[in-house]
Amino acid sequence: MTDHYCVFGNPVAHSKSPYIHAEFARLTAQDMDYEARLAAQDDFATSLAGFFSAGGKGCNITVPFKQEAWQLAAIRSRRAEKAGAVNTMLMGKDGRLYGDNTDGVGLVRDLLINAGCPVKDRRVLVLGAGGAVRGILAPLLAEQPKEVIVANRTVEKAEQLAALFGDDGNVRAADFGGLAGEKFDLVINGTSASLHGDMPPLPEGILAPGALAYDMMYGAEPTVFLRWASAQGAAIRDGLGMLVEQAAEAFFLWRQVRPPTAPVLAELRAVLSKS
Ligand code: ATR
Repeated sequence: MTDHYCVFGNPVAHSKSPYIHAEFARLTAQDMDYEARLAAQDDFATSLAGFFSAGGKGCNITVPFKQEAWQLAAIRSRRAEKAGAVNTMLMGKDGRLYGDNTDGVGLVRDLLINAGCPVKDRRVLVLGAGGAVRGILAPLLAEQPKEVIVANRTVEKAEQLAALFGDDGNVRAADFGGLAGEKFDLVINGTSASLHGDMPPLPEGILAPGALAYDMMYGAEPTVFLRWASAQGAAIRDGLGMLVEQAAEAFFLWRQVRPPTAPVLAELRAVLSKS
């Protein structure tokens, strides 16, 4: 019998998840389908309940429902608990709804495996202090970087995150101006600035030799942040690999099968560059 999965969002038509999971299912010969479901802004809970009461096995959750999914989960993984957001759900054998967050592990796998960029003992700068950054800090700190600095325009929000994740590793807050004179091996842009074609106001000279600049956003062209980093000699990478890896982790939770990600990432990249 075919098992049913979906992604909830609003809007959701643009989501690449149905394509990614269909490819994973094909490559691993899993009998499943996966569709995009538009939930009403004020009625996600009803949509979610309807999906699972009709026998749905698991779902992803995207903007703007990740925080509400966190509230609706009966049990949460530790990483979801700390992220304050749930992007993956599944119905447990006990009939309880389990919530996880695979975004952070997706980023870490993309860095370590796909980009070959070590995190352990490295100095890491994370830009932004919104939901996207909160979602990645626990898995990032679990890799034992030497230090993570969270820099945000509104420094109070970075301070709150640094306090929240202080138990997970060596993390502190800064404002952008306070970064002058520092050097980082890895700079991760988790702000939404790239969405608007903007650039966080970073001082020059913060990229150590051989640094990687990573933007959690992706698009047909490099973001302003990636272009800035490239002009300073850094290696650059966008968030398409993170997207594929967070999906793979969700797939693994649902199916206990780890799908191959490299061919799917290559296909997506080819489609994106043609767009
Ligand atoms: P998300 O869920 O994508 O993280 P969010 O919670 O609204 O979205 O957070 C957006 C983040 O991008 C915030 O850290 C925001 O900084 P502020 O907290 O100071 O608002 C950051 N951001 C957005 N536009 C920015 C810009 N042009 N320059 C620098 N930071 C920006």
